[in-house]
Amino acid sequence: MIHRRETVQMEQCWTNARLATMAGGDLGLIDDGVVAAKDGRIVYAGPVTGAPAAAGQSHDVEGRLITPGLIDCHTHLIHGGNRANEWAMRLEGASYEEIARAGGGIVSTMRATREASEAELFASALPRLDALIAEGVTTIEIKSGYGLRVDDELKMLRAARALGEHRAIRVEPTFLGAHALPPEYRGDSDAYIDLVVGEMIPAAAPLATAVDAFCEGIGFSPEQCARVLVAAKAHELKVKLHAEQLSALSGSALAARHGALSADHLEYATEDDVRAMAEAGTVAVLLPGAFYFMRETKLPPVDAMRRLGVRIALATDNNPGTSPTSSLLLMLNMGATLFGLTVVEALRGVTVNAAAALGLSDEIGTLEAGKACDLAIWNVSDPAELVYRVGFNPLHQRIKDGQ
Ligand code: NIG
Ligand code: FE
Repeated sequence: MIHRRETVQMEQCWTNARLATMAGGDLGLIDDGVVAAKDGRIVYAGPVTGAPAAAGQSHDVEGRLITPGLIDCHTHLIHGGNRANEWAMRLEGASYEEIARAGGGIVSTMRATREASEAELFASALPRLDALIAEGVTTIEIKSGYGLRVDDELKMLRAARALGEHRAIRVEPTFLGAHALPPEYRGDSDAYIDLVVGEMIPAAAPLATAVDAFCEGIGFSPEQCARVLVAAKAHELKVKLHAEQLSALSGSALAARHGALSADHLEYATEDDVRAMAEAGTVAVLLPGAFYFMRETKLPPVDAMRRLGVRIALATDNNPGTSPTSSLLLMLNMGATLFGLTVVEALRGVTVNAAAALGLSDEIGTLEAGKACDLAIWNVSDPAELVYRVGFNPLHQRIKDGQ
């Protein structure tokens, strides 16, 4: 079923709610709260006592919890095929790096993605998107990075944008051309970065809002990633980086120095990296699904992030190789159980801090006047229940732009 978004000009309010506004430094809980919206924007979110006189349509949510619509700020949702076969090999003892070096890994998804048409990529991503939508996700970031040549990278970005046109969800497409070295470059990664910088970024700029790169031994060096980030900024694109997932290269500090919105993964980040991120206001995007699926044991330095004041976000990292999950609610639980995040940290990680990781703090992520009226209405009253459940979805209703 396909429908297109329309803008509805109307006033609406949701009453008798428990609000977790995420405004301020915690959950911003308000009992007996009201959210009022006009033309898809919040005009009031607060206690019933200060609420404007109800106008337009009023919905009694009967004491349910309302949070901002959830934000999945790091995904590779568009990809051809899957890697269930490689996972089976890993269960028999092969490592992710061994499989990658033997021509599997990201490159095997590259082949499947190159073979797929834009329509096929769209169609195969749709059920994964719908699973996230069913959990109250109202904004998603989607990366390219499995085409690894100009036309196929653009095809991925167009498929990502098409998802946002056919479902009521905001899609933020990110260009990730520097994800892996395509085999036709025969080990000449500098020449491939020349292509990324000289041709791909200019071609992707009209389709993407941000640029990412994979700073890793099996990806690209910090120097090569720096070239990508500089080129992205020259095209006025936002920047971010996959950093410190498998080893410590100080990619996260590099990202911070380049004004990145976020550095993502970060299991191997050092205290110095975290300090650089704190100074730059770079958000730490933690990806517990990849940590879990890779059976990683090195924990990201969450204590240093807290101590030095780095904002933490959580995302699915939905991808066929290291995190084949389409559940952001599961990431809430894994962020808490695996990384030791509190309920407040986990929930802020998929709302206000995820908005910051996308550079959309003025638009989404909290229930505050002026922001998009993106709501998740839950069949729970205690926010902790959203983090506590494992594999259970208590969503009652999802509202995007007031509808
Ligand atoms: O976020 N680290 C690099 N990119 C993905 C993995 C992609 C893949 O294995 O296909 C990640 O984990
Ligand atoms: Fe990723």
